[in-house]
Amino acid sequence: MNANSIVFFVNGSKVEVSSTELETWATLLSYLRGKLRLTGSKNACGQGNCGACSVLLSEFDHKSQTIRHVTVNSCITPLFYVHGCAVTTVEGIGTSRDGLHPVQKSLVQMHGIQCGFCTPGMVVSLCCLLRNNPTPTKADVERAIEGNLCRCTGYRPILESMSPFAGCPMGAKCCKNKSNKLDTNDTEPEARPIDPTQDSIFPPQLMKWHLKDTLSISCGRTTWIVPCKLEQLRTVWTEHPTAQFVAGATAVGATTNYDGGPIIFISCHRVEELQAISVNDKKLEFGAAVTFTKMEDHIRKLEIEGAKPVVSAFLACIQSLASDQLRNVATIGGHLACRMDGLDMIPLLFALNATVHLMDHTGKRRDLTVEEYLSNEQTGKELILNIQVPLDNKVKFVGFYKTPRKRPVGSAGTTTALVLDTGGHFIAYLEGLSPKIIKLDVFSYLPETERTIQSLSLDKFDRILRKRLSEEKAETRDDLVNLSAGVLQKFQAVVNETTPEAESPHSELPIHCRSDIIFDEVPDSQPKTDPVWRPLPQTTAEDLVSGQAMFIDDMPSYQNELHLCLVLGKRARAKLVHVDWSAVKACPGVVDWIDHTSLNGRNMWGIMAADEEIFASKEVVYWGQPIGAVVAESREQATHAAEKVRIDYEEMQPVLTIEDAVKLESFIEGAVVIERGDGTEGFLRSNQVVEGTIGTGAQEHLYLETNGAIGVPKREQHEIEMFVTHQAPTFIQKSIASCLGIPFNRVIVRHKRTGGAFGGKESQPVKICVPVALAAQRTGRPVRGILTREQDMAITGKRHPYQFQYKIGFSKDGVLQALEVKVYSNAGCSRDVSLEVLDCTLNFIEGCYAIPNVKIEGRLCKTNTVSNTSFRGFGIPQAYVAMETIIDHVAHVLKIGSKQIQEINFAKSGFVPFTKLPLQDETIVEAWNQCQRQANYLQKEADVIAFNEKHSYKKRGIAMMAIRFQMGYPVSLLNQSTALVHVYLDGSVSLSHGGCEIGQGLNMKIQQIASRALSVPLSKIHIAENSTNTVANATATVGSCTTDLVGAAVLNACSEITNRLQPFKEKKPNASWEELIIDAYLNRISLSVMAQGRPGDGGVYYYTYGVGCSTVEIDCLTGEHKVLSTDIVMDVGRSLNPGIDVGQIEGAFMQGYGMMAVEEWTLNDRGEVESKNPSRYRVPDVGNLPRDFNVTLLSDSPNKQAIVYSSKGIGEPPLLLATTVHKALRAAILSARKDRSLSAFVQLDTPVTPAKIRQACTIGCI
Ligand SMILES: Cc1cc2nc3c(=O)[nH]c(=O)nc-3n(C[C@H](O)[C@H](O)[C@H](O)COP(=O)(O)OP(=O)(O)OC[C@H]3O[C@@H](n4cnc5c(N)ncnc54)[C@H](O)[C@@H]3O)c2cc1C
Ligand code: FES
Ligand code: FES
Repeated sequence: MNANSIVFFVNGSKVEVSSTELETWATLLSYLRGKLRLTGSKNACGQGNCGACSVLLSEFDHKSQTIRHVTVNSCITPLFYVHGCAVTTVEGIGTSRDGLHPVQKSLVQMHGIQCGFCTPGMVVSLCCLLRNNPTPTKADVERAIEGNLCRCTGYRPILESMSPFAGCPMGAKCCKNKSNKLDTNDTEPEARPIDPTQDSIFPPQLMKWHLKDTLSISCGRTTWIVPCKLEQLRTVWTEHPTAQFVAGATAVGATTNYDGGPIIFISCHRVEELQAISVNDKKLEFGAAVTFTKMEDHIRKLEIEGAKPVVSAFLACIQSLASDQLRNVATIGGHLACRMDGLDMIPLLFALNATVHLMDHTGKRRDLTVEEYLSNEQTGKELILNIQVPLDNKVKFVGFYKTPRKRPVGSAGTTTALVLDTGGHFIAYLEGLSPKIIKLDVFSYLPETERTIQSLSLDKFDRILRKRLSEEKAETRDDLVNLSAGVLQKFQAVVNETTPEAESPHSELPIHCRSDIIFDEVPDSQPKTDPVWRPLPQTTAEDLVSGQAMFIDDMPSYQNELHLCLVLGKRARAKLVHVDWSAVKACPGVVDWIDHTSLNGRNMWGIMAADEEIFASKEVVYWGQPIGAVVAESREQATHAAEKVRIDYEEMQPVLTIEDAVKLESFIEGAVVIERGDGTEGFLRSNQVVEGTIGTGAQEHLYLETNGAIGVPKREQHEIEMFVTHQAPTFIQKSIASCLGIPFNRVIVRHKRTGGAFGGKESQPVKICVPVALAAQRTGRPVRGILTREQDMAITGKRHPYQFQYKIGFSKDGVLQALEVKVYSNAGCSRDVSLEVLDCTLNFIEGCYAIPNVKIEGRLCKTNTVSNTSFRGFGIPQAYVAMETIIDHVAHVLKIGSKQIQEINFAKSGFVPFTKLPLQDETIVEAWNQCQRQANYLQKEADVIAFNEKHSYKKRGIAMMAIRFQMGYPVSLLNQSTALVHVYLDGSVSLSHGGCEIGQGLNMKIQQIASRALSVPLSKIHIAENSTNTVANATATVGSCTTDLVGAAVLNACSEITNRLQPFKEKKPNASWEELIIDAYLNRISLSVMAQGRPGDGGVYYYTYGVGCSTVEIDCLTGEHKVLSTDIVMDVGRSLNPGIDVGQIEGAFMQGYGMMAVEEWTLNDRGEVESKNPSRYRVPDVGNLPRDFNVTLLSDSPNKQAIVYSSKGIGEPPLLLATTVHKALRAAILSARKDRSLSAFVQLDTPVTPAKIRQACTIGCI
């Protein structure tokens, strides 16, 4: 019997979907968000790489009579997969209306939420963990969220939010035990141990329902068939012999099938026989549809004598596969049948001589080895029934090494499986090296009595590998050979137990982290109702944690809404010979298509100079440049039609790198030069002069919410209302108006919140919001345009890559005398804010040091890459990398510790840096000493030295540094802001301002400021949104100074309200706030005030300081590293909200760490971005958190130049402290090089990838 509708439960309610409802391939996420309007689950990548869409899937197992709960990435889960399951989304876990789940409450309390875009996915992952294990260990918690990316928090507070269940690492020092709470009726939610009765009940109906029938359902051209028994599968296979199998569907998850003929998928995931696991002392046998999670659960419990090496290799392999969300659905059969390069379990199956059992559609069965299976194309048409791994006592050692350990499929690196048997036979398989898997059984026999594999011939190994890799570029080949030889050496060390490094024969699993945060408590004299300086959670945290808070794409659809998809160019530099839209016009649902000819206003835009086209008209100048856009009735139709545009190009040679641009003199504007003292004299006076270069790479913002906009035309007077995810309302308004050819006052830009920005949403949203506005204006209908992750990564600017060429002169004691630096920045195809970023870089190259003679010259390189833009730190992180490299270079030459060079060169009070504001009340020395004590620097340094003496291929490094960061714009006109305060007759206060809430806690801090300024409870103050028709001409939310600017305006507005109430207060000293408001109203006193704040008449108005110390460990053979500890002491004055500020420090540090050592953005030779989605572009995940991460806010250091309540700006400065990791990595590498008598200094461009570490260590074996 066949079933023809998908039946499942969502948050306890039954849902039934039939073919008539599905026009096209539907994922669980698209159904939840689009049809059920459950928008808590977010779409941040659409490819299973970030966990923002995580939902809980529960299923009743009739055999064990238990309910199985797992997380899945709903963006790649086809709807058919959930037939017979219960789905729980964040909305089903807890809401502020019906009560939050203890996990949600704990996240709120522990400041585990910033922008909140990742939060619903985190909540689901953590709740799933607790359902399966109410008392998880910290290791369990880390593992549960390793598939959930957060770009804001730095993960520490999220981990800590599980402390009520897993035990807080801080014990009595836990911030929950501090007396910093607000005495108010707005009670903070208390975290408490998990109570399973609060979990939503598994639908009893599903317990009774034993799926027996084959499900068959169509969606557009696709048909999904889901049998439950092997016999049923055979029947449908006979009917549809060309059907394609799926199991976990992770390789086909987000497929759409617009074109071509019908596709039929037969899913194996429910077929009982394919789920079987059978184990005895002879073999492990896994049915093809067994998921990795089930495999792991099963083999973890195995206690078969002699099976240990095999089992632990499988466990290491499974744990290295992406995340729980993937392991919960991906199957061993699907993995093998994928036939993709770079799959991790394949070499292990090869090395263990696994067998595949196959069946063809006639029912004929046969057995093949994995090698035979993969080398025979014909097998692709057969069904994998199961996979057998022989178990015999002969296997002595099994090694599984994946480098890098968290390596997405398709990215550089290798997976190696090595087996040594008791007879001395040795075999190794390498994956990740093209062409395909390489078998290294060259060392096939060793005398039985000899246990050592020392005699492995590395020369022979080298020859074989090089031959197999002959197609690769020499550089890649050398690196891969070195990497593989390094892995081999690690295995040798284990087998021979020769070195202290002889640890587990598998890729190392992460150790688990601890942390400490310290900040001042409020004075006892402060009224309990005064919220300033207290670590209070954001007032919107409960909405964010429950998925109720709205981001742009969560807004309900307008009835007649259209969808827009951009058409992107596919050349880096080319003339547009012909753009043919004819196929678009014929596509279903298409309403309009637009290009450069469609604009009534200008086709040019730019934040400082209008030098970039909205739509390319004659030439494309970078790969991905928008050429036009298609507008259609649905998002799918617009996407499909956009792919149909035919573009003929005349390709030209692109300029892609700084080196190319310098050679061709391709620059934007002239050189910028800043100088102090007399360089010639300074160098003459120096005892030594050294020269060097250092480069920094591009960095992708990867805010979790992609750029998007909704445009609503008003039909009158050309008015248009725009909802845009951004951080610069005035610029967005101006760009839309000028491109549409209408005055600014017809454009209202509204903004509630943004799911992360980091500078990337200052100018870049123009690329989507102008086309959306134009389409809305032309069609007269609301238009929604949301960029996919790949589109966003293709068309938006990055952090500027830099090249620095330096010359430094110094005395024999290390006193810096003269510095000359040539700075090249890759601006990309247009100016954007590149010149301003470059200015900041030049001004900060001298770091925190006083150098009497300086000359710095900067140039902006024009290249055929996307135009680079603002990114947290605004050019200053690159400057610190350069200066600290110079310090290390001097230290290396003088053979003095880097720390000593730093200490003797620190600038002191009175010194005037290039930022013009003289140093006063600087706290660097205080913070430096405190950080040394906190980090136990001297002990750690001694430990590092001792460790390095003992170890040959593992090395450690330690480094400290101090930072200074400017607050206030150097151009004083930007130092202004406006706030509008309305007090209503019930005493509630509505506040509007020009800043944007982008996850940095701005609105919370502003509410705290207003609460103290008006002396009213926090709960009375509300910030609904910002919009250009309430507050006009706002400065962009960048530069870490928006709290200062907006705060100054709010203080002025509140002071005016207080003044207006004063006469009534004098008359009735005991009157309540509400009574005073009524009195003022009755006397016709306006309770609305608009006020301006304009601090910083002379530009920069104070500095924020900080000190950091990091310890790292590198593996010279694989190039992998881990950050063992990071200590930070930050001077944030008197923190307005220590909870928020600590979160900013940790998040900024982790983002900076990404720039230093994790995130590698690459282009191919033609200028196409290779790192185009989060699977190709890795950002730090929870496993990257420093294992010991301590943050202290410098005690008792109120800011004497403060704009608001003794505080300091904080968003960007701590990012610079990630340079400590760069320095520590260099120190570790220099130690490795010293062992090999290599004396030259290493420059170490960022990001410091495993390949760069291997290369710099040159321990590579061959
Ligand atoms: C986000 C993400 C991260 C990933 N990270 C990693 C990683 O770190 N390391 C790694 O090795 N891999 C990784 N992968 C790849 C992953 O291992 C594979 O996608 C997965 O194993 C495929 O299993 P599946 O059950 O989902 O297969 P499906 O997607 O269902 O099918 C894959 C292929 O197998 C065929 N097939 C399925 N079952 C059978 C059967 N019984 N008989 C014959 N053919 C069959 C299908 O026709 C299809 O061609 C990742 C994938 C994603 C999406
Ligand atoms: S949106 Fe699904 S994993 Fe990223
Ligand atoms: S809070 Fe995690 S991405 Fe913003």
